[in-house]
Amino acid sequence: MSAIVGREVDRRTVVIGGASIVAAAALPPIARGAPAPLREFNITAAPGRVPIIGGSYPPTNVWCYDNRIPGPEIRARQGEPVRITVHNRLSEDTTVHWHGVRLPNAMDGVPGLTQPPIRPGGSFVYEFTPPDAGTFWYHPHADSLQQLGRGMAGALIVEEPESVAVDPDLLWLLSDWRLRSDGQIASGFGNSMEAAMSGRIGNTVTVNGIVSNEVPVRAGERVRLRLVNCALARMMALRFEGHRPIVVALDGQPCDPHEVEGGRLLLGPAMRIDVMLDMQGEPGRRYLVSDDFYDGVSYWVTQLAYDDKPPLAGHALDGQFALPRNPLPEPDLPNAERHVLTLQGGMMGGGGMMGGGGMRGMMGGMRGMGHGGTWSINGKSMTGDGHVDMPPLLALQLGRSYVLTIRNETAWWHPMHLHGHSMRVLNRNGVSLPHREWADTVLVPPRETVDVAFVADNPGDWMLHCHVTDHQVSGLMTVLRVA
Ligand code: C2O
Ligand code: CU
Ligand code: CU
Repeated sequence: MSAIVGREVDRRTVVIGGASIVAAAALPPIARGAPAPLREFNITAAPGRVPIIGGSYPPTNVWCYDNRIPGPEIRARQGEPVRITVHNRLSEDTTVHWHGVRLPNAMDGVPGLTQPPIRPGGSFVYEFTPPDAGTFWYHPHADSLQQLGRGMAGALIVEEPESVAVDPDLLWLLSDWRLRSDGQIASGFGNSMEAAMSGRIGNTVTVNGIVSNEVPVRAGERVRLRLVNCALARMMALRFEGHRPIVVALDGQPCDPHEVEGGRLLLGPAMRIDVMLDMQGEPGRRYLVSDDFYDGVSYWVTQLAYDDKPPLAGHALDGQFALPRNPLPEPDLPNAERHVLTLQGGMMGGGGMMGGGGMRGMMGGMRGMGHGGTWSINGKSMTGDGHVDMPPLLALQLGRSYVLTIRNETAWWHPMHLHGHSMRVLNRNGVSLPHREWADTVLVPPRETVDVAFVADNPGDWMLHCHVTDHQVSGLMTVLRVA
């Protein structure tokens, strides 16, 4: 198991595996001279009261970090160490997981697997040096349905060593809440019917912790917009009326800049997309940003509200969109070992949010039951959250390349997340992807298959699970051991 490696663990430990030594050598910043200064943060997990609806609504009772929604934005810099002390003032255990960061296993925040849980009143020191610049986030990995569902999430932005030329660098951390009419969070987390379908989808989407009416922008700006889906279960398909977002990074990892089909940005839970957005709208006008993932229930998330000033000059469409690549180890495909992960379970129907296909599904019955969970990976159902005794499904050899074929035999969407690594997304249903995409959370549509590849260069026991939290806790979770 993952021994307590403790404070000494740093980037050097991570890069012992073959291919990544080369990658690490390519890291620009910390190579010369004095070590980079340590950036220190303290965050406290506790119940809070926060006005997420706004207007005349009373504040909502939440669980959160530092009494705010979302939690404080943690800004780190590529190749420079951070130390984040987490204090637990909840009445139950917690941990913090730094989603997408390729860090030492002991810092990964999975209770029972990589660290003891942080008890009420206790604290834990996380210390790591992010090897990749990009958009990441943090959230608990204990009682996730409630802790994430009641608001515990924040952004972790790892800056490039040389700053990227954009006007504003905007972050939209998107959260989904199931609120009662009095503005309080509805109970009923862990409903097994929902778990067998789309998971707990809410009724209120917030941008940076508040129901958003508009975001002020100025014509002529070029914005880097970091989109983070922090929902428990809600998929999103964002459209920017009158604009053409250029995707420049997925899950923090730069890709070849491209526009997406129909301008529809698909974001499953835990996924991030960085776009470059040229503000080419008319001064004084408003443009809707909407989400139409679920048929018949599209809504708008916010509006881009242009001020009346004339367009900024000299910020036109010229110039580079591409972000500098991160030092990811390139998988050795011809020599990679291949494995298939078959996802099964859930209701048969699918498609709708909870009704529609779900009703048909109820009559069709469930599959994948009888393993102690609703969902399974290769016939096995690991349930709950991080806990002791999570036997690995696969033992991977340190430094070796792997191709995983993720085959979704269910009627539901699954954003499949691997800890501690980024995965090259090779193809979908046998068709290769054009934009050199990497992901830590790869969205697998119903009855489709995705091939991913990665170098198992980070030793330890790593979770692999669906990030629809209800799916994770009811069986769509496993562990890969790298040693
Ligand atoms: Cu966002 Cu297991 O993680
Ligand atoms: Cu993660
Ligand atoms: Cu799922």
